[in-house]
Parts: sequence; structure tokens; C-alpha cells
Amino acid sequence: MTDPSTHWRRLAGSAVLLDGFHALKHALRFGAEVPVAVAVDRGAALALAGELAPDVRGPLEALLTEVPQAVYAALVPRPHPTGVAALAVRPSREAALERLRRLPRTAPVVVLDQPRNLGNAGAVIRLAAGFGATGVVTTGTLDPWHPTVVRGGAGLHFATAVERLDVAGLPPGPVFALDPEGEDIRGVELPDDALLAFGSERSGLTAELRARADHLLALPMRPQVSSYNLATSVAMTLYHWSLGRGRGPGAPDALEAPEAPEALGAPEA
Ligand SMILES: C[S@@+](CC[C@H](N)C(=O)[O-])C[C@H]1O[C@@H](n2cnc3c(N)ncnc32)[C@H](O)[C@@H]1O
Repeated sequence: MTDPSTHWRRLAGSAVLLDGFHALKHALRFGAEVPVAVAVDRGAALALAGELAPDVRGPLEALLTEVPQAVYAALVPRPHPTGVAALAVRPSREAALERLRRLPRTAPVVVLDQPRNLGNAGAVIRLAAGFGATGVVTTGTLDPWHPTVVRGGAGLHFATAVERLDVAGLPPGPVFALDPEGEDIRGVELPDDALLAFGSERSGLTAELRARADHLLALPMRPQVSSYNLATSVAMTLYHWSLGRGRGPGAPDALEAPEAPEALGAPEA
């Protein structure tokens, strides 16, 4: 058997770091391919699985290799309190794009237009996974698979489709762009095939995204408050979508387990 550190170092350049027990748990649940996983205390990690996630205890038993604390600390940039880390194969871009572009769509795609904050992007991916959104697309330079985003997303990148695209290459569908100057969202039902677009923390929606928008919608907010945090804006909008005709997770006609991708993580403003 290959030494886990050697195996890790061979894969680390191209793989996705799953930092901590919960990220690994979510990735396994949503079909991630995990070639290597380590724990400082294998027994404690398996006990945690038995207590919190019995559905993944079996796969973890087969996967986890115990390594000394110093070896673990040398493999990860920041040790996690659970002392667990793993590497997963990044899902293919082609499969994710096919999923994002496929019509008809049963749940919206979230578009983050030039986001800046890695923590916000992770929180949004976690929200998209929780609501069963089709995926999250980012424009601009932020890498939505950056290790800090994956950490903020708690490993839930594997429960939805996550890619970076230009505005010109966005998936098909009506664009509902969120902006404090828009029409009150409460009077609007959001369709399942919508692209729900949000601006950057600093400067809001770009001119390019505004030009592609079919509707500008505002979240209720009292005068003198300038704006909400990006991730909380996404949360309110997805919740609003889920209320329309009773959609989203737990709704009578909803898919309980969103389709897993083929082969397929301190917020700022
Ligand atoms: C922190 S805000 C951006 C604030 C930025 N200074 C601006 O000029 O718009 C980030 C994004 O969250 C969404 N957002 C925040 N508050 C909103 C509100 N009250 N209504 C609609 N969208 C909102 C928008 O998409 C906005 O671009």
C-alpha cells in the first residue's frame, strides 16, 4: 500500500482539498471520488461518523488512514479541529456545464457576478446545495474551487454544479438580477429555469450583467440601509423561489436527493 503522504503529494496539485470531517462527509454523500483520506485519530473520526453520520461510517472505515499529527499538519495549510482531511477528484467542467445548460431546469442557477470574498462564495455554494439549486456560476477572477471556498462550502460543491464563466457564456434562461433599486421581489414568482444574479460585495452588478438581465429585483430593506451581505441576499432569494408553488427541498413535489453530478467552504459585505 502506498504511503498516504506520498499518495497525497502526488494528487495535491490537481485535487480538491476536503478540510475536516464535515467536508469529507458531504463530499462522500454526494458522490465525490476520494482517493485519499487521513485522520490524526482514526478511532475518534469513526466515532464521530457513528454519532453524526452513520451513512458514511462504512465508506470512511475503508478510506481513512491514521497519520501522526506532524504528518497531517504538513499536508494541510491550516489544521482543522476534527484532524481529518482528504483529497477529492475535481468534477469535469464539461459535465458541470452540460448540467448547467440543460433545459428544462427544475431549480434556478445562482450567478455571482465578480464576487470578491471567498467566504461568501463558499456560503452561497452551501445555500445552493441546501436548496437543490441547479448550480452556482461565478464571473470574474475568483476561483469557485479555491480551497477557502471549498472550506466555506463544507464540501457541498459536490452536491451542485460549480463553474466559472463569462457573462456572454451564461447558461440559457431568464436573468433575474438582484439590486436594491429593482422591483420588490415579493410581487414576483421566480421560475425554475431562472438565473438568479447577484453583484459583487464592493460595486454591485456589472454593466455587462445588467445588460443581460431581464428583471431587476429588490429585497425588502428599510430606508438608510445600503444593502445586505451577498450570501444573505442569495439566501433570501432562494427562499423566495422555494415558496413559489411549494418548490425546493421538502416540498411535496421536490426531488428529495438532487441528482449527484457525474464523476462529478468570515463573510464580508
Ligand atoms: C453587498 S451588496 C453590493 C453593494 C454594493 N455597494 C452596490 O453598490 O450594490 C452585494 C449584492 O447583494 C445583492 N443585494 C444586497 N442587498 C440587496 C437588496 N436590498 N435588494 C436586492 N439585492 C441586494 C445585490 O445583488 C448586490 O449586488
